Amino acid sequence: MVKYLSLFRIPRFTCAMAGALLVIGLPVASAWAADPVVVEPAVPSVPDVPTLQSLRGLLPPDPSGTEGGRKVDLMTDYVLNRPAAVLLGKALFWDMEIGSDGSTACASCHFHAGADHRTTNQINPGQANTNANVSSIFNKPFTASDIPGDVPTYTTKSGGKGGPNYQLKKSDFPTHVLANPLDRNSAILFSTDDVIGSQGVFDANFVKPHQARFDKCVQQPDGIFQVGGINVRRSTGRNAPTVINAAFNVRNFWDGRANNVFNGFSPFGNRDPDAGIFVTSDRSGVATKVRLALKDASAASQAVGPPGSPVEMSCGGRTFADIGRRMLDTL
Ligand code: HEC
Repeated sequence: MVKYLSLFRIPRFTCAMAGALLVIGLPVASAWAADPVVVEPAVPSVPDVPTLQSLRGLLPPDPSGTEGGRKVDLMTDYVLNRPAAVLLGKALFWDMEIGSDGSTACASCHFHAGADHRTTNQINPGQANTNANVSSIFNKPFTASDIPGDVPTYTTKSGGKGGPNYQLKKSDFPTHVLANPLDRNSAILFSTDDVIGSQGVFDANFVKPHQARFDKCVQQPDGIFQVGGINVRRSTGRNAPTVINAAFNVRNFWDGRANNVFNGFSPFGNRDPDAGIFVTSDRSGVATKVRLALKDASAASQAVGPPGSPVEMSCGGRTFADIGRRMLDTL
């Protein structure tokens, strides 16, 4: 990436400005010639800020790294046919069969310019407030002791009911309103701890081994995502960002938890002590577990998250092996 972003227009401009100021400044300084002139260091150095440029036509680097200590390269050691791999990736992104319900694809949440523009049933109560014992899980009928001047909210900003299955309006935004947006210490006029997330699947448990064409799941009462005891789809604690150009991201997800290093199993790279892939190293055909560490692969680290998530795409307890089996059955 850095290689492609090596034009530093802002610093150059800053230098030009600094030079101009220095020239203008000189005659002024000489007017004080009677006193010894202390020459200040010209201009403090400005850190280089790369300008944004088009990524058109650029490709992300091919991931490479180690498998059980031996050096590997994604394209020579794992991928036989690049165009076929690209097709498979695109198919996976759009395939609704990946979802346990047969109707949830990656693209369900990443449909609109790679992001999520759906407005119904998108609210999540916020990670800190999913305890069913509090009087209201959605909205915020209390004040947070750690936020000075916090106000309770019994509705959304537009006065709507909020919560599961709610139809969001433009006037529900922003979700935190200050009397003076330029002064963070000004009075809070409205604040909710609810989050506009991305709706996924219904609360259910995966049942083995009766897995034919569709996943067998048992729905269970959802204590949070329900209206009058009837389950609605669950919604994530954050809103789906665009996937466009995500392959260029050093890390992925809002908090960067999709690691740059792909371990072949989970989003967490080298930090996941249990991650590994099974390989057969000799003719015995016995597979042994080895660690994989592929650099420049945060999009892969990201992609192994949602398919097994009981909020996003899966009935709870479904493994990647189950998903693979299902996809084979679907052929
Ligand atoms: C239920 C909705 C949902 C589904 C289905 C879903 N995602 Fe996402 N996606 C999200 C949300 C929400 C985030 C942000 C999560 C976070 O940052 O914690 C996200 C983040 C991402 C990002 C990170 C982008 C960035 O700039 O950091 C990528 C890439 C991505 N998803 C690709 C996929 C792929 C590939 C699939 C299918 C295997 C998928 N998503 C399925 C909701 C979804």
